[in-house]
Amino acid sequence: MLPKILVVDDDRYTRTLIEQLMRKSAEVHLAESGELARELFAAIDFNLVLMDQRLPQVKGLDLLREFRLQRPKLVAILITGHADVRDAVAAVREGLFDYLTKPFEDLEALEAVIGKALELDRAYREIDSLRTRLAVESGAPDIIGQSPPMERLLGQVREVAALDTTVLLEGESGTGKDVIAKLIHAWSLRSSKPYLEVNCGGLPESLLESLLFGYEKGAFTGAAQANPGYFEKAHGGNLFLDEIADMSPKLQSSLLRVLQDRSFCRIGSTNPRKTDFRLICATNRPLAGEVKAGRFREDLYYRINVVALNLPPLRERGDDIVRLAVHFLDRYNTKFGKDCGPFTPAAVRALEACRWPGNVRELQHCIERVVALQPGGVIDASHLSPTCDFLPELDPQDKTTALPTLAYQEARTEFERDYMRRLLEAAGGNMSEAARCSGIPRQNLYVRMKRWGFVID
Ligand SMILES: Nc1ncnc2c1ncn2[C@@H]1O[C@H](COP(=O)(O)OP(=O)(O)OP(=O)(O)O)[C@@H](O)[C@H]1O
Ligand SMILES: [Mg+2]
Repeated sequence: MLPKILVVDDDRYTRTLIEQLMRKSAEVHLAESGELARELFAAIDFNLVLMDQRLPQVKGLDLLREFRLQRPKLVAILITGHADVRDAVAAVREGLFDYLTKPFEDLEALEAVIGKALELDRAYREIDSLRTRLAVESGAPDIIGQSPPMERLLGQVREVAALDTTVLLEGESGTGKDVIAKLIHAWSLRSSKPYLEVNCGGLPESLLESLLFGYEKGAFTGAAQANPGYFEKAHGGNLFLDEIADMSPKLQSSLLRVLQDRSFCRIGSTNPRKTDFRLICATNRPLAGEVKAGRFREDLYYRINVVALNLPPLRERGDDIVRLAVHFLDRYNTKFGKDCGPFTPAAVRALEACRWPGNVRELQHCIERVVALQPGGVIDASHLSPTCDFLPELDPQDKTTALPTLAYQEARTEFERDYMRRLLEAAGGNMSEAARCSGIPRQNLYVRMKRWGFVID
């Protein structure tokens, strides 16, 4: 379904321009007055409102404030003239997505701003629908993953969850192996049965052994009472062995025997007990490498590598970065009783440009810190950088983060210069490659680059 955009402007030229620009990718509704805009807004659930500040009867910003009382998460863009910079800045401070200055000279930039605004609206809606779904489907962890690599992964999870096969989860630290393991349990036929998890790297060998196998009374000093272990407690359900690569050689061979016979003995007993659990393992060091290095038993590796699922690093998840950021913003606003957000376009750009070596966990901590430290209001790139060590350094030449404080013409110039410079860098100085990446015809691009002195005849 196409997103719905409302354009409110008394100037016919502006209305038609935006309609023509967006009509292929959105359902565009036009209103030339505040009154008509109110009627349309009451009847239709818009994904984005583009509002002129100077309407005959009412100020655009006031009308948007009215709309936001009805729908606090409305994503809107204020259209202003050059003289209204103050209103525009106020609008962004109040949490409107962005502002645009008339006349529009650069249609590509206009389209890009609208595209980003729609992306943010999509993220808000997905979080809301997720919350409703979770209320119904309780038990499953809340997982954000609409990017192609995550869609693929979740499809595989759905396939294997219902089977009883052993699953091996591989992926960098913080990519969500724990949450996927819980999801497999929630989606499995064993979901009403126990789910037990243990971190094999976190415990000394003997403690891990007694935790998994259980023990009889008097099996060792301190064993005052018999105690069932996880192999027993997980009967009928799912057992998650996290950081499996850290398991000691001795326990690796004990585990292999349990998996072969589906039976085990408590420590201090020779009485074998049957157990039926489905095993889920996780590791952030690829197990094949551990086998090669002689640190992990090859036979055990084949036993647990029945279905291997790979969790993609966050930097490869595209739009999910913004979705996750909005999700965590929402969570920590609720937790700390605050009203921070939304993110400014510069903040969104910074989040997307970050390499996130700590993956989802790192992003989560970054947003938690920002919400904890900020009294409220919009979150700009400058708020994010002190709380996240991994955000790309703000280049002193890069004025794009300061755009909202500049007059439109000046900001546009800054943006174009910065864009062209980065484009040329990314393309390694190759103009054909730069033309291909940017979608700007080569000749046209050449003229613009020349204007900035990035190429010479
Ligand atoms: N797709 C997701 N949607 C929402 N939250 C997520 C998602 N993936 C991970 N998280 C959150 O990120 C944090 C880290 O995830 P998790 O503990 O599952 O990572 P991990 O891969 O097990 O990391 P490690 O290798 O360090 O154990 C958790 O707080 C988790 O709730
Ligand atoms: Mg983990």
